[in-house]
Amino acid sequence: MTDTMDQALFAAAEAVRAKAHAPYSRFTVGAAILADDGKIYAGCNIENAAYPVGNCAEASAIAAMIAGGARRIKRIYVTGPGSAPVTPCGGCRQRIREFADLDVEVISHGVDGTALVTTLEKLLPYSFGPEYLPK
Ligand code: THU
Repeated sequence: MTDTMDQALFAAAEAVRAKAHAPYSRFTVGAAILADDGKIYAGCNIENAAYPVGNCAEASAIAAMIAGGARRIKRIYVTGPGSAPVTPCGGCRQRIREFADLDVEVISHGVDGTALVTTLEKLLPYSFGPEYLPK
């Protein structure tokens, strides 16, 4: 992976994070996916007054990817406030699992800190996925 691509993913995640609807937590999150069509798809968190109905940034980015016609996640970047890396929540790890191979790199970045680079397999060990279901 080139530094240029990582810079583009970081920039896309930060640009969409600025559009987050997070009036309740005030914790804005951006996610940017490099997809199998070579394009970047981004999404932010969208909270709701009925709290459990809110969407995470990763779910929004996946929705953009699917709506854009791409099918697979090749790399995913998540950015948020502070210095601690913003890692995907448990539900989003499973959402990513649907569309990514286990060795796909997940980069988590608190904008004031350094990036954590890990893989889907490390974030979601012994996971259940589409291949477990009968065709
Ligand atoms: N959030 C995300 O969008 N993605 C994550 O990976 C972690 C958490 C959002 C959900 C909620 O809107 C806010 O961050 C605080 O939990």
